[in-house]
Amino acid sequence: MVQIFTYLLVVLVVIGLFSVVNHRMNCVFTILFVCTAYVSSGPTINNNDGLRLVSVFFRHGARTPEHKDRYPNDPYKLDVFQPMGWGQLTNNGKSMAHTLGQALRKRYNKFLDEIYTPEIIKTKSTDYDRTRMSALLALAGLFPPGKSQKWHEELKWQPIPVDYDKDSIDYTLKRPNSYCPRYMKELDQALQSDETLAFLKTHRQTLQYISNHTGKPMNKLGDVFQIYQTLTAERTMNLTLPEWTKKVYPEKVTIIAAKQCELENSNHILKRLNGGRMLAKVISNMVAKTEGSLHPHERKMFLYSGHENNVINILAAMDLYETHFPNYSSAVIIELHYLRSRQNYAVKVLYIRDVYEAPEELTLSGCDVYCPLDDFVSLMEKHIPKNYTLECEATKNLD
Ligand SMILES: *[C@@H]1O[C@H](CO)[C@@H](O)[C@H](O)[C@H]1NC(C)=O
Ligand SMILES: *[C@@H]1O[C@H](CO)[C@@H](O)[C@H](O)[C@H]1NC(C)=O
Ligand SMILES: *[C@@H]1O[C@H](CO)[C@@H](O)[C@H](O)[C@H]1NC(C)=O
Ligand SMILES: *[C@@H]1O[C@H](CO)[C@@H](O)[C@H](O)[C@H]1NC(C)=O
Repeated sequence: MVQIFTYLLVVLVVIGLFSVVNHRMNCVFTILFVCTAYVSSGPTINNNDGLRLVSVFFRHGARTPEHKDRYPNDPYKLDVFQPMGWGQLTNNGKSMAHTLGQALRKRYNKFLDEIYTPEIIKTKSTDYDRTRMSALLALAGLFPPGKSQKWHEELKWQPIPVDYDKDSIDYTLKRPNSYCPRYMKELDQALQSDETLAFLKTHRQTLQYISNHTGKPMNKLGDVFQIYQTLTAERTMNLTLPEWTKKVYPEKVTIIAAKQCELENSNHILKRLNGGRMLAKVISNMVAKTEGSLHPHERKMFLYSGHENNVINILAAMDLYETHFPNYSSAVIIELHYLRSRQNYAVKVLYIRDVYEAPEELTLSGCDVYCPLDDFVSLMEKHIPKNYTLECEATKNLD
């Protein structure tokens, strides 16, 4: 449907422009043009009429390098990263996180009331300054106070809470490589596999080159992952990277760093014990919403503020991850719709690769862009842990 309207619109715009150019604009074209523009904007608006619930997983905004990722020969030292400090949002990063909130406001303006109520949205972050701050910034962009909630003459901001579990007991958004033994065992095998060793061998020269110039040994993918993080943070701050990086960054360093991301989700068990954990929550919330049992009933949105791995893991759990390193403030959106035409619920997945660009619709393999909820649930079943503690072979309770 939408494609047909879009096609018609394009044809008519071309005809319309042609007539303008020829000073022969006639009434019929004008009317047709206006009608088509009106009709073709219809489906976009109607699409959100059936919207019921939205979950968003996003990466924090641009930041300074992390202390643990620094390398001995880095010309940039802590003084360059002040007053923020290590691993903190830059002003640009703050703007990115705020822009993400504004983009969500734009997309869901009709769906979310202008008025903020505590029931409507729940925000959860990892226990990092940069993710908690990004969550606050996204909320500032999403819920600037309207007339009735304005409490300060100049501040276009109102306080909205963000939840988080202390890092030491975060068993949901945090990487499971410190608390889920089965995941750790499985990941170790992936990192030691013949395929991985062959991959490292192929890039031996590059690893040696990076090691020579950074002054840090590059023995495993994780070492290059750290260099990628630092160089990308510095580049995004518009710092001039050292001459030697030109040969290997971004291309080669990105390929090697992204291999680490890929391996963290390289089989069904890894996907299940990693992003599957959060996907299970998304699904149970969606199902509860359709059954009227989601509490509070008014809940419309869940925001999850995390890191590149949270963006990757949720994509991977849905078999939508193609090896890449997500941008700062990228976001995965999972929407639950009620489709009147089909009298059924459907799930739609979107990916904001670049916070300044429109979201991209992702199509699940074996389903439509609007994937019927029942089909979505069966497609995902293999990645949904039934008893996470048990499957992790954990000695402490992870629920
Ligand atoms: C790294 O440094 C060593 C010792 O200086 C040198 O022999 C080697 O060629 C260098 N390798 C690369 C890839 O730059
Ligand atoms: C870096 O430079 C680009 C291009 O000049 C500019 O658009 C961007 O805002 C700068 N970023 C920062 C963090 O200064
Ligand atoms: C990151 O954003 C840039 C534009 O700023 C875009 O070209 C690129 O595709 C994005 N990268 C990924 C991996 O999505
Ligand atoms: C999950 O497994 C653990 C360990 O076997 C058990 O103690 C717990 O009761 C199980 N949880 C559920 C919800 O079945």
